[in-house]
Amino acid sequence: MTQTNFVELRNVTKRFGSNTVIDNINLAIPQGQMVTLLGPSGCGKTTVLRLVAGLEKPSEGQILIDGEDVTERSIQQRDICMVFQSYALFPHMSLGENIGYGLKMLGTSKAEIKQRVREALALVDLDGFEDRFVDQISGGQQQRVALARALILKPKVLLFDEPLSNLDANLRRSMRDKIRELQKQFNITSLYVTHDQSEAFAVSDKVLVMNKGHIMQIGSPQELYRHPASRFMASFMGDANLFPAAFADDYVDIYGYRLARPAHFASRGEGTVGVRPEAITLGEQGDDSQRCVIRHVAYMGPQYEVIVEWHDQQILLQVNATRLQPNVGESYYLEIHPYGMFTLPDVE
Ligand SMILES: Nc1ncnc2c1ncn2[C@@H]1O[C@H](COP(=O)(O)OP(=O)(O)O)[C@@H](O)[C@H]1O
Ligand SMILES: [Mg+2]
Repeated sequence: MTQTNFVELRNVTKRFGSNTVIDNINLAIPQGQMVTLLGPSGCGKTTVLRLVAGLEKPSEGQILIDGEDVTERSIQQRDICMVFQSYALFPHMSLGENIGYGLKMLGTSKAEIKQRVREALALVDLDGFEDRFVDQISGGQQQRVALARALILKPKVLLFDEPLSNLDANLRRSMRDKIRELQKQFNITSLYVTHDQSEAFAVSDKVLVMNKGHIMQIGSPQELYRHPASRFMASFMGDANLFPAAFADDYVDIYGYRLARPAHFASRGEGTVGVRPEAITLGEQGDDSQRCVIRHVAYMGPQYEVIVEWHDQQILLQVNATRLQPNVGESYYLEIHPYGMFTLPDVE
């Protein structure tokens, strides 16, 4: 299947006064895909959304939607809907009126609005909620109404700005899955913004990691987690233990512990190997070079988070609670599983 890029930012820079908030970024979303911008607070995510929506004009560069240059177009001329962290519903209108508001502005007939509002409410599992008011429903239901209000307009592009941030932890997962399900069902090209890594992974085809107005890496969740391109990416994508390593033709040597060389390793000579905590286990036997001592144990329910000392380095790992009950001071043999290993180039 060939995919055309439906939303494109070309060499876009945005300055507020002398402050460069977005620094020459390129971004492309293929038709029907959900791409997520992930990055720490203040890195410029909302600014990118506002640029795509037409709420801000770029200082430099171009924005294209569906093959057309929309850089100079207003939000009304872009056929885009945005779902915010705050639901921005009108308190004096019923939910039905809230959802149908956009269609009413477009001059759609009352009968059609009524029918489409009913369908939109069904999509977000709020059948029959037309006549209720905002203060009669929960926060999670309000965000569903906000989603229905966007979907009913069948926009070319949907934008989400941290839509789960105001929801309780237990509601986040169901709302997240609902957003992804409907985005796929209607094949809506979407740009989603969050600072939460697991949320980004769960909803996205591709993730773009941003930092200080720059794009650090673009890839599928698996690519970013398994093959981070820099130290920043390795630590931003979860916990990582970084080791000095020597690379030979058929093995990798870490503190004298020799591991079969993973096929995807390109490095020669000396370098840095990263290992995710879940790829390290504690064994009962091994080589002397693998000996480690438990320094800290935290019980997390499904697993223990354990810090061991290995060759004067503190190593974070996870122990499945059904396998082993670790205690501080115990000695084990550390084992590394090649699946969770990556090499790092010498860039920050
Ligand atoms: N209208 C504005 N005027 C001046 N500075 C702004 C404006 N909007 C955003 N900024 C600045 O741009 C930077 C990025 O903001 P934002 O895009 O909201 O980040 P994020 O959504 O990633 O938290 C911040 O330093 C913020 O203060
Ligand atoms: Mg923001």
